[in-house]
Amino acid sequence: MFDISLLAPDLNKANSTVITFSFSDKKLSKAAKEVDGNIDNSITKSLKNSLFSGGKEQVRFINVSSNSSIDSALLVGAGDESKLTEDSFRNMGIIAGKTLSAEGIVNATLVTEKLGSFDEKEASLAFIEGLALSLYRFDYHRTNLKDADKPKFKKLFVMTGDKDLEKELPSLSALFEGVNLARDLTNHPANVVNPSYFADLAKKMKKLGIDVQVMGKKELTKLGCGLLLSVGEGSIDGGYLIVMKWNGGKKKDKYKAIVGKGVTFDTGGYSMKPADMMAFMKSDMGGAAAVFGAMHALAKRKSPVNVIGVVGAVENMVSATATRPSDVVKSYKGLTVEVNNTDAEGRLVLADAISYIIDKEKPSEVIDIATLTGAIIMALGSRYAGVFSNNDEIAKKLVSAGEEVGEPLWRMPTDPAFHKMLKSEVADLSNIGGRSAGSCTAAAFLEEFVEETPWAHIDIAGVAMSGKLWGAPNSNGLTGANGFGARLLVRYLES
Ligand code: BES
Ligand code: ZN
Ligand code: ZN
Repeated sequence: MFDISLLAPDLNKANSTVITFSFSDKKLSKAAKEVDGNIDNSITKSLKNSLFSGGKEQVRFINVSSNSSIDSALLVGAGDESKLTEDSFRNMGIIAGKTLSAEGIVNATLVTEKLGSFDEKEASLAFIEGLALSLYRFDYHRTNLKDADKPKFKKLFVMTGDKDLEKELPSLSALFEGVNLARDLTNHPANVVNPSYFADLAKKMKKLGIDVQVMGKKELTKLGCGLLLSVGEGSIDGGYLIVMKWNGGKKKDKYKAIVGKGVTFDTGGYSMKPADMMAFMKSDMGGAAAVFGAMHALAKRKSPVNVIGVVGAVENMVSATATRPSDVVKSYKGLTVEVNNTDAEGRLVLADAISYIIDKEKPSEVIDIATLTGAIIMALGSRYAGVFSNNDEIAKKLVSAGEEVGEPLWRMPTDPAFHKMLKSEVADLSNIGGRSAGSCTAAAFLEEFVEETPWAHIDIAGVAMSGKLWGAPNSNGLTGANGFGARLLVRYLES
């Protein structure tokens, strides 16, 4: 990550590269005109015979040869000023970040201003967020990185007179830390991020003022979390149920719970996955990553909310002790489940985690997030996550938070018909519902354990990772983990 420092609004103090904006038809923003005046009209001159029109997401890097302290300008096209959205600023930040990287720029100064209907604070925060997202790298496991491949960008100066924006910058850095934590956790292979890694990470989060409880096999056996444990039965590591409480709100405010699927590797168990699908299953803890990322961010931002983060950490492996298809296991809640497919393991982990937290803490609502079904990828692809809910208000709030932060959700149906598909011949429930409506029956399975508690389930199987198998690279042009859900959860919980 890069540092962020403040600069008082004085263009004579700007150095290195100045970032500023233009609209369609080469129309410079107010600040861009001022910058241009400071650098001998280098911007206007460079646009004269250029195809750069200032359209949406266009960018132009301009070398300056005047004797100003500014040696280059990065002009970012904002397109039609009346059509700007929060997401457009984020996308401009992403494109600016890519260009700064390509040009090998180390420091840059963003001159903040009001753009469209967005004030300085809103516009700049979203822009810087995009910049930060695009500059993420995952290099821990490379020993042969050439200097040319190493990230250069070190420092962003924010030139602003806006006191509100100043106040928000530390919170913004805290949010990136959370998002990048989520991305790192998901990108790391499963021989690094295993269930014990999550247990240790949770304990380290105590330093942020989070109250942490980690329950291992012994306690979970005593508690009767038979579904969660059945998934980890074939592994030498785990399972754990991790509970993290952030008490930033008023004493009388009830907790909201966020629950993440933390299957650190999903072989499918005896219902084994085909080889080409399996390697991607190091990312089957993307939900847990989002929960860790959100908790990190909330605590570091000192958010005035009461939130419990819950993670079920297990590894779905095969061995002599692993669960067999058709085994019957008993849940924390008391319901028995026939495990007809050991690859439908996420719902087992979540069901115990959800009913445990409802029973112990009586949260006002539960939001779970999970790479739960391949079927959601068939339905929605790699841009939208699916959201299921028994509560219209929560669903609406989640959908609008997703739209704001550029992590869009599409509401999917809940219906008694899906519950009927989960009938078992021998137990209270089967863990699979047949070939059709795979994401909906998975959600219905979870709903059996939620009952009346206001609840939403976010299926991020299609959006947690970008890359070969998933088709398109993600919005910042990289492949790998997106950290999807961390920003969404923070925005939702803080709104
Ligand atoms: N972890 C997978 C879901 C998944 C698939 C995530 C592809 C990311 C990419 C989950 O545990 C799973 O295997 N679900 C099965 C359920 C089926 C057996 C009912 C699936 O979707 O195929
Ligand atoms: Zn599975
Ligand atoms: Zn899984």
